[in-house]
Amino acid sequence: MPTDAVTQTGSPPPTAAPRVALRHLLGLEDLSGDQITGILDLAAQMKAVNARRIKKLPTLRGVTVLTLFVEPSTRTRMSFELAAKRLSADVMSFSAATSSLSKGETLIDTAKNLEAMGPDLIVIRHGAAGAPRLLTQHVGCGVVSGGDGFHEHPTQGLLDAFTLREKLGSLAGRKIAIVGDILHSRVARSNIWGLGKLGADVHVAGPATMLPAGIEDMGCTAHARVEPALEGADAVMMLRVQRERMDGGFFPSAHEFHRFFGLDEERLKLCKPGAPVLHPGPMNRGVEIAPEVADGPQSVILEQVENGVAVRMAVLYLVAATHGLDGRVD
Ligand code: CP
Repeated sequence: MPTDAVTQTGSPPPTAAPRVALRHLLGLEDLSGDQITGILDLAAQMKAVNARRIKKLPTLRGVTVLTLFVEPSTRTRMSFELAAKRLSADVMSFSAATSSLSKGETLIDTAKNLEAMGPDLIVIRHGAAGAPRLLTQHVGCGVVSGGDGFHEHPTQGLLDAFTLREKLGSLAGRKIAIVGDILHSRVARSNIWGLGKLGADVHVAGPATMLPAGIEDMGCTAHARVEPALEGADAVMMLRVQRERMDGGFFPSAHEFHRFFGLDEERLKLCKPGAPVLHPGPMNRGVEIAPEVADGPQSVILEQVENGVAVRMAVLYLVAATHGLDGRVD
């Protein structure tokens, strides 16, 4: 099925059952390792499409994707919209700042009114954990999370796993360090679930104030110092210090954060030689990551962004196909 899904000819692909059934994508906690692998395999085919001169498939012709972003975004929103267009879907783009949310309309009323215009899939980003799941109870569309509060950012977790798989091959037994503001990071949560299900040995590190209680119950090892997480790591993922979500002093200063947890060239040497450096963006240069590392030879940060388009094409395709929407020509 995925092979047909990436047919470039004008004929629509068949509507056979998708290999991965994905009614909604709300978090990687909900998926098995096999499902994640299936999504990544399809994303690899989508990436091949994106390398063609004509980067377009007819697969979701007649399907409408609504991007409902109630929090700011550059990468996630743009890549979902580009992914939808690459699959020939129509895109409705909702922007909270210029919407009637500012007049007090609720999220559910907003979503129901937008649903009345006929989108088939909704991609939502919201500051409240659980908002995408709440949406599934009020609309008939397939719902894909573009990140919700401190909960999860599942497509970021998938594109990170995709990028790591490209660089390292199988992730089974690989030591992956995730460093920084773990407490406020939905990216960390999706990666702990996702990489763990692919067999990786996930280590998280950050100031004790930024390590949530019980984080190890998710299947990772936690460190309040960065060095044990980095030592011998096959890859390192730095996380943004999310100052906008902090209502208290989690560390004395940005300078101090960089001194004790920031990834500079010296600290990177603790990892295996050539270990890829990831960051979901946006970066605080000079805080969690030194510019010479962000722009250095081991950085795969822009490859993550490139891979995000392919991964989101795969996710949109699979959710649409699970709803019987792929290959529509009527
Ligand atoms: N990685 C990520 O979610 O970036 P944006 O906030 O720009 O979408």
